[in-house]
Amino acid sequence: MTQEEKPCRCHRFEDKVAIVTGAASGIGRETALQFAREGAHLAICDVSADGLAETRQAIEALGRACLSMLVDVRSQEQVEALVQATLERFGTLDILVNNAGTGQFVPFAFMENEEYDRVMDINVRGMFFFCRAVLPTMMDNDYGKIVNITSIMSVVAGQGQSIYNTSKGAAKMMTQGIAVDVSGYHINVNAVGPGMVLTGLTQNMLGDPDQAEWFIERIPQRRIGLPEDIAAAVLFLASDEASYIHGTTLFVDGGMICTRG
Ligand SMILES: NC(=O)c1ccc[n+]([C@@H]2O[C@H](COP(=O)([O-])OP(=O)(O)OC[C@H]3O[C@@H](n4cnc5c(N)ncnc54)[C@H](O)[C@@H]3O)[C@@H](O)[C@H]2O)c1
Repeated sequence: MTQEEKPCRCHRFEDKVAIVTGAASGIGRETALQFAREGAHLAICDVSADGLAETRQAIEALGRACLSMLVDVRSQEQVEALVQATLERFGTLDILVNNAGTGQFVPFAFMENEEYDRVMDINVRGMFFFCRAVLPTMMDNDYGKIVNITSIMSVVAGQGQSIYNTSKGAAKMMTQGIAVDVSGYHINVNAVGPGMVLTGLTQNMLGDPDQAEWFIERIPQRRIGLPEDIAAAVLFLASDEASYIHGTTLFVDGGMICTRG
């Protein structure tokens, strides 16, 4: 089914303001576009200027306002500048999707300090900076939705991916920890854990038909995931339909972790 043919749940996010990080490509871009289709205004960021500009144009073509900014999520200053600019442009913010992330394929014994820092800083520290920057506004409003993109790799280990595993496990527990800390507020904090999704991050692996087939055999739904699959779960968790879902991880993996447990 193409995006156009899918039933539209339509205006769940009319005039809500959503920040999506890592929105220049893949899951982040698709998530931002699905929010725009359902009426949200967007503040998007990434380190890739060209991809970010393409996403912004697509959002504006849908008739939604879009603030876009080059932000390296490892920079507290840049993260806080985006949150401040969002508040100045839209007057509020309702939703944060921490999607920016990076992969790692180095056997543990050969892992350099610099690579450890790169993976942990993008996948964990960036999430910390963003969650901390938006929470005062969400607490003042007594309303907010945070969706952190983790991975099935937060609960199962992958060969050569030990520090990616570490980072996504930390992101999963950060999600749970914040959920407890915002007790009493109408703020929901959850994670979406993708399985194998065809994006720039996985192109080297999944672009190879033999490797893709190897994964497909291990996925009960017998297909590689699409960014649309992940974005749909993010929007559900960011919607008011999910207001009693809190501190959990929704795995969107075609059943892949069922075969690993
Ligand atoms: N593709 C998969 O199979 C898969 C599986 C599990 C989890 N994930 C997670 O999904 C998220 C999105 O990844 P994707 O698959 O769409 O890959 P992607 O490479 O298409 O998108 C990641 C985006 O994050 C941006 N980014 C990287 N470092 C950044 C930084 N320091 N500051 C700001 N932006 C930065 C990249 O420029 C890119 O646009 C990541 O957190 C990834 O770990 C992906």
